[in-house]
This record gives sequence, C-alpha cells and structure tokens, in this order.
Amino acid sequence: MAQTAIEFNSVGYTYHSGTSLASSGIRDVTFTIPSGSFTAIIGQTGSGKSTLVNLIAGLSKPTTGEVTVLGQSLTKQSNKAQQAGIQQSVGYVFQFPEHQLFANTVWDDVAFGPRNLGWSTAKINQQVQTALEQVNFPTNRYQQSPLELSGGQQRLAAIAGVLVMQPQILILDEPTAGLDSGASQRLLLLLNQLHQAGVTIIMITHHLEYVAEHADRVMLMGDGQLQFAGHPQELFRNAELMKHNHVLPPAAVQLGQQLLPPGTNLPLSLNELAKKLATQLKAGEQDE
Ligand SMILES: Nc1ncnc2c1ncn2[C@@H]1O[C@H](COP(=O)(O)OP(=O)(O)OP(=O)(O)O)[C@@H](O)[C@H]1O
Ligand SMILES: [Mg+2]
Repeated sequence: MAQTAIEFNSVGYTYHSGTSLASSGIRDVTFTIPSGSFTAIIGQTGSGKSTLVNLIAGLSKPTTGEVTVLGQSLTKQSNKAQQAGIQQSVGYVFQFPEHQLFANTVWDDVAFGPRNLGWSTAKINQQVQTALEQVNFPTNRYQQSPLELSGGQQRLAAIAGVLVMQPQILILDEPTAGLDSGASQRLLLLLNQLHQAGVTIIMITHHLEYVAEHADRVMLMGDGQLQFAGHPQELFRNAELMKHNHVLPPAAVQLGQQLLPPGTNLPLSLNELAKKLATQLKAGEQDE
C-alpha cells in the first residue's frame, strides 16, 4: 500500500484567532494524501484552498486538530523548529511566485536555496542548470535581472527556484494563472513528468479538463470545509455537488449533458465527447 505523505485530522484554521477580527479559514478538515499521488484542489474563491495548502506547507499552525507531513506532526502547540521542519520538506510555488524574486540575476535567484544548504559549487551549478532547463527557461537570459523579464519568464524562474531543491512534495497555488496557453501547457506537462518521477503533487487549479485527465485525486473545498475527496471522474459527474459548491464541470461534461441522451456516461474530455457524438450520429444514420 502507498505510504501516506500528508494527513489532516479534524484540522481548523482561524485567522486572527482569539481577537475581535477572528475569521474562519477552514473547519474540521480530515483527509490523507498518499505518497506519489497527484491531487488537485478546486473550489470557488474564498472556499479555503490557499489556507489549506499553507497548512500543508507548514506556513501556519492549525488552530485545532493535527497536520502530519512526511511523518512530522504540527499542532497549535508546535514550536518554530517543528514548523521549519515541515517548511523544509515541501516545495511551495505560491500564487504569483514571481513576487518573491529578489536576487540580481535569475541564476543567483535559483541558486539561493542550494547555496544556503551549503552544497558544493559543482552540485549547485548542475542543479540550477537542470531546474532552469526543466522549466524551459531561455538560456540567454540566465544572467539577466528578474526585473527585466516578462511576467511569464519571472514565473518560470520562480518555479525553477522551488524545483532546484528537489522537494518530495510539490505544492502549487494556481501556477498557470496569467500564463499564455503555450506556457501553461508546458508547465502542466512538466508536472506530469515530475509526478511520473514519484513527486507528490498538490495543485490548486481551475483547469478541470487537465484535472480529469491527469490528477489521481481531487479535493473540493466549499465554505471552508472539505466537500469531496476522491476520484475526479466521480466528482465531475456529480452535477449537484458541483453546482452546490459553485464550480462548473469541465466543458465536455456540460456539453455532454446538453447533447447526449440522458443516462449516457458523460465524457470528461472533448476528445471523448467527439467520439461519443460520432457514434451517435452513425447510429442515427443507420436508423434512417
Ligand atoms: N489574511 C487573512 N485574514 C483574514 N481572513 C482571511 C485571510 N486570508 C483568507 N481569509 C479568509 O479565509 C477564507 C478562505 O480564504 P482562502 O484564501 O483560503 O480562499 P481560496 O479558496 O484560496 O480563495 P481564492 O480562490 O480567492 O484564492 C476566506 O473566507 C477569507 O476571507
Ligand atoms: Mg487562494
């Protein structure tokens, strides 16, 4: 059986807890994520997605319950060292990670983490090169200031700065937001490759077609609570649960609902929809 990478046990997080400004982020969330799986987190704005992944990454301590990441436990009582232990064992690509670039050159920015760990120069050079190549960063811009890059290039540099640490768990908060479709596709392809190489991936995303095709698991957040955790196909065909949580199913499911006879197993990709429609049309022609 696959080992557990992450476990949440009745986890709640309240912002400004204990003050008059207290506001609930997530409530009573329980789940496990197996090592090596690819989990997508979806849900409408304000549903608690970022709050949830901040807890996985050890950036905040739960107000109630217990978070366990790679065997390290975190509760309200945990100290800074315990929190740092979790932070060091996961890679976290924030929403708009380019805001965190700070070094004089792209190369130095990506090399920052490895230098802090005291790796040898040869190892640093090799890993930085590999990380920049992984994200397809243009080779002639390695020595450029991050400030002189396009938004998409800045994003790639920031992602390389996380990959260079070779994290066992990689968390990404809407990594394709603001990227053009080519850059998005390349990034999503890279995530598939990392997943195949055994990295545990957790991604907040709105690309439901991609989720349907590539994620092993999906978690739906709604109103600070976990509304569903399981296989994407099961969730996307549950129109009621999706609607209740204000998330539209993938386009293929929506079109399938309109175009296919009731009771048909709904397609999750446009390819699958096209095949089903072609079969229907052929059957129709034969009837005439
Ligand atoms: N810094 C904060 N201070 C107070 N409340 C916050 C803070 N950040 C988030 N919240 C509250 O926590 C709840 C969950 O927010 P969260 O940012 O986790 O949602 P999200 O699903 O990531 O939304 P989005 O899709 O917009 O990024 C919301 O009700 C929000 O108002
Ligand atoms: Mg968010």
